[in-house]
Amino acid sequence: MCGIVGYVGKKEAQDVLVGGLRRLEYRGYDSAGIATLDDNDEAHLARSVGKISELSSVLEKAPQTGHLGIGHTRWATHGGVTETNAHPHHAGDIYLVHNGIIENYKELKAELKDYDFASDTDTEVLAALIDSNYKDGVSLKDAVAKSLKRIRGTYGIAVFSPKEPGTIVVARLGSPLIIGLGHGETLIASDASALLGYTREAIYLNDGELAVCTKDGAEVFSLDLKHLDSKPETIEGNVEQIQKSGYDHFLLKEIMEQATTLHNTLSGRINPKLGKMHLGGPNLTEKEMRDINHVVIVGCGTAYYAGLLASYFMEQLVPDLTTEVVIASEYRYRSFHLPKNSVALIVSQSGETADTLACLREIKKRGIKTLGIVNAVGSTIAREVDGGTYVHAGPEISVASTKAFTAQVVAMLMFGGMLAEYHGGDPKLIAEYTRELSILPEEIEKTLNTHRETMEQLAKKYAKYDDALYLGRDTAYPIALEGALKLKEISYIHAEGYASGELKHGPIALIDDRFFEVFTILDNWLFDKACGGLHEVRARGGKTIILTNSKADIEADDIVRIDSPIKLLAPILLNTLQQLLAYYIAIERGNDVDQPRNLAKSVTVE
Ligand code: M6R
Repeated sequence: MCGIVGYVGKKEAQDVLVGGLRRLEYRGYDSAGIATLDDNDEAHLARSVGKISELSSVLEKAPQTGHLGIGHTRWATHGGVTETNAHPHHAGDIYLVHNGIIENYKELKAELKDYDFASDTDTEVLAALIDSNYKDGVSLKDAVAKSLKRIRGTYGIAVFSPKEPGTIVVARLGSPLIIGLGHGETLIASDASALLGYTREAIYLNDGELAVCTKDGAEVFSLDLKHLDSKPETIEGNVEQIQKSGYDHFLLKEIMEQATTLHNTLSGRINPKLGKMHLGGPNLTEKEMRDINHVVIVGCGTAYYAGLLASYFMEQLVPDLTTEVVIASEYRYRSFHLPKNSVALIVSQSGETADTLACLREIKKRGIKTLGIVNAVGSTIAREVDGGTYVHAGPEISVASTKAFTAQVVAMLMFGGMLAEYHGGDPKLIAEYTRELSILPEEIEKTLNTHRETMEQLAKKYAKYDDALYLGRDTAYPIALEGALKLKEISYIHAEGYASGELKHGPIALIDDRFFEVFTILDNWLFDKACGGLHEVRARGGKTIILTNSKADIEADDIVRIDSPIKLLAPILLNTLQQLLAYYIAIERGNDVDQPRNLAKSVTVE
């Protein structure tokens, strides 16, 4: 949600800021802006509604010079999408960009009577508050620290003033802020991807910290202005990972590269010869592993569905395990109780999702061990969990999550496989899962390449429908939920996912010729039951697409069969077909697939 960049150094700040904002655009794309300080210490502000390309057009007509500046790409929370509400905000001597929410902004606004507020935002109030404290020889650092102590809410901010040229003050509480350390230049970003190609060395600010950045580096302080030691860390990834690499869209690239990213997820973690899986990150002793009898899996959206699928696998693998999969936005406010020997898996691609982070903190308060299943290295969740594992899917830029889903399921499955070893799990089953994992990347590659064109053709046929139902049973049920989410978020077709056994309990009432149904049917002991409902749907005019690994006859309008030695993990393979279907339908409908309306990649506010 929203992206921040900042720069102080030798280069033209405008170019670095706009380049950085383009990389962060996926985090929010309602409006954008930059503020720079020229060599005469005069500040310049440019903002525009729409994407970064709109801002670029504004800057082409009125370029800004100077070697220091801040920029922002916005996903509106307070106030509509207008140029006045776009960041940076300006009050007196202060220029400010902000991610997060200031909860007590109304109360503060009422106190700041000397200021005329132009926008409806909480951020402008914070700019005014800092300006009101920035008087009589007080430094920018001190004014920011004093102001932040009055704030209730969350923030990642970058601030400068023409009165202190060469300095940007940044701070964070609940919203990420990273300081990239270059040679004679310092960059600031809310997401490490904006720093790639500039530097590999970065300070990840912790909550409650503030830093004074100059071209020579950064000094970190607490809000009480105590100097803190800060150890630079290495940024992972490379510039290629955040480029489209010949694909029309990041989404298609991220779907098609799943074989490669999965290799990274699996690397060094499975041994098919021994039939074993091993994750290094959980940091649990043998006794702790043996004592675990309850796993709670927490996530939102796709991460939640990944958890649901993984829970089916874990229950098969670990005989005495109870699993519970919860939606973070609900769980955080429930009066939940967890058995003493529980472990919580905190699943998040971005590692910044506000609800998931809140759950992590609630669970920790109850003394339960937390393990992260996280993609973004150095993210807040990854830093706050007791242990865990990076899923190594690489930067996921498209708002719709695809490769992260596959990687999350596999990472959790490996945790289950490992747990099974300590709980008397069936060695043959563990070995079979391990064997399937070892060939999964190649099978994904084969599935995608074999069926890509078919999915494109099917999309042409089904893009005109208004409604869709995704159905599945057993491990295909979480896949049905995920398929419906993917379709609705990028095609804007109304889509619902259901357990096929539930069809007769309500949803069948909806079916008519405006609907199409996607049935994911697995070649397993529940095959006949999974086919149940198909005839009823067809009899009511619903059009049916079957995604299956079965060779049996099935009556349907369209059938896509995969031919693979993979059985247990077939839902993961079939899900990649759903990803392609959603992508091509969205293209067919002329939508912006990478940046769908009303959505942002990382939901860092409630
Ligand atoms: O970054 P996270 O994995 O915590 O994000 C969770 C959800 O916001 C995310 O999966 C969302 O549902 C995606 N847009 C789904 O494609």
